[in-house]
Amino acid sequence: MEKITEKNETSDFDELTKKMEEEILEEERGIYTEKTLEAAYNPKNVGELEAPSGAARVTGPCGDTLQMHIKVEENKIVDCKFITDGCGASMACGSVVTELVKGKTIEEALTVEGKDVLSVLGGLPEENIHCSVLAMDTLRAALEDYKSKNKNRNKKRNKKERR
Ligand code: FES
Repeated sequence: MEKITEKNETSDFDELTKKMEEEILEEERGIYTEKTLEAAYNPKNVGELEAPSGAARVTGPCGDTLQMHIKVEENKIVDCKFITDGCGASMACGSVVTELVKGKTIEEALTVEGKDVLSVLGGLPEENIHCSVLAMDTLRAALEDYKSKNKNRNKKRNKKERR
């Protein structure tokens, strides 16, 4: 009879976990596109920026929250990061949004739409469309935050110059 050792228990547990992960992934493959799964499991630009030029945190109707930071230099978005406590789809959407706006001017970034995110992902199931809306709403709010901060900065600068 085989002696049960701690090593055997660990490898059995690892194998079971691996099998479960494979089963979940297989199930997800039937629901999400490869591109969505790739972006959800390996999202780009996750994190926060130190002293962001614009920032926003939005909670969607599902109760999940997404935060986005943008860094703007000479009217160009030079960096963009996000974090979310939401589902895998919100992770994928956040990742795609940050990639879509990096290198764009503020005006160009304002023209990015939810359909652009969906087109990169190859679509989302109906019940996850609100996750892409959450990512887009957060981007818009971060851009608006930048615009209003920038307006105030310009006002202060003009005041100083007039003195
Ligand atoms: Fe809440 Fe996707 S962000 S379910």
